[in-house]
Amino acid sequence: MSCDFIALATPGVKGLTPYQPGKPVEELERELGISNIIKLASNENPLGPSALVLAAIEKAALELTRYPDGGGFNLKQALSSELSVSRDQVTLGNGSNDVLDLIARAYLSAGDEAIFSQYAFAVYPISTQAVGATAVVTPAKDYGHDLDAMAEAITDKTRVIFIANPNNPTGNWLSGAEIAHFLGRVPETVIVVLDEAYFEYAFDPSNSDRGSSDDQYYPDGLAYLSKYPNLIVTRTFSKAYGLASLRVGYGISSPEIADILNRVRQPFNVNSLALVAAETALTDKEYLQQGRALNKKGVAQLQAGFDALGLSYVPSAGNFVLAHFETDALPIFNELLKKGVIVRPVGNYGMPNSLRVSVGTEKENQRFLDSLAEIL
Ligand SMILES: Cc1ncc(COP(=O)(O)O)c(C=O)c1O
Repeated sequence: MSCDFIALATPGVKGLTPYQPGKPVEELERELGISNIIKLASNENPLGPSALVLAAIEKAALELTRYPDGGGFNLKQALSSELSVSRDQVTLGNGSNDVLDLIARAYLSAGDEAIFSQYAFAVYPISTQAVGATAVVTPAKDYGHDLDAMAEAITDKTRVIFIANPNNPTGNWLSGAEIAHFLGRVPETVIVVLDEAYFEYAFDPSNSDRGSSDDQYYPDGLAYLSKYPNLIVTRTFSKAYGLASLRVGYGISSPEIADILNRVRQPFNVNSLALVAAETALTDKEYLQQGRALNKKGVAQLQAGFDALGLSYVPSAGNFVLAHFETDALPIFNELLKKGVIVRPVGNYGMPNSLRVSVGTEKENQRFLDSLAEIL
């Protein structure tokens, strides 16, 4: 080849390592020629899609020759009533990942800094570096965000701070009091992204004294929007709503920020099936409830299983648990693959001795725990 197309790429992009997704079931089938595989590697919803959503998609599929509604009017309207925000505060994305990317493209460029925590979600460094900005990574505290360290890392070059609550892949979470205290320390010129991809699992609406300055519960990030206009809350339909494949997520912010994000958004970034599916998913409260209950039990099952095996783990507010081993976890991951169980190694996060396991059905969780026990 005469031309070095790697060298031609922008400095940020050249230095990137692609995001490593969970291993697909079909890939393991091809590699090992085995069937009856379970995938607990991508924090997906074990319930399968909602029946209401499937029916809505079937109907919407008849219009596949048409472009989707680029403004996503109906979904924005549905989110607006569901979340008590105005339509112009909503930015729709091809997954919440897309919204994170839009934020980086709109607010970060070469010479700017984005702050996020060690062990935080792997997309933050990718989105930051891709636009040529500098990632400032603060050391984690007990696997979680050290908000004091993050506040102290703010300089006059800081434009964006990414916080995952709960965090993936660790599962730990920050309380309302911690978030409120942190937001109070951030200059208004710095955008704070509160990534709540697992909100529906972590949030318990029955806790009544939330919202106060000493709220010890997992908070609803939207509660801080009126006081902190530099805040963007991102959420997704990929997890608790069970629509990972369709790619639909959203950001809620001030209308001014949403206006800016809208300027860099691809005209039809959310497809018509995803729009209809998400709108319908919001109406299926039973599905959401069922998924939350299943997840609560599943997290408890996995954590009890790890306890029984003498393994430590990070107590999780998400739909996954990060477990620690005494040695390199990759051989354990590979042995699990041979038994048809796909989990997620997290060496790329700098945690070579840990594995992240997504909550499956009760049977799947048990099969994983039994396989792990045999291996250990
Ligand atoms: C913390 C966090 N944020 C965002 C995402 C992106 O999800 P999606 O693009 O499917 O909405 C994920 C997915 O795993 C995640 O774990």
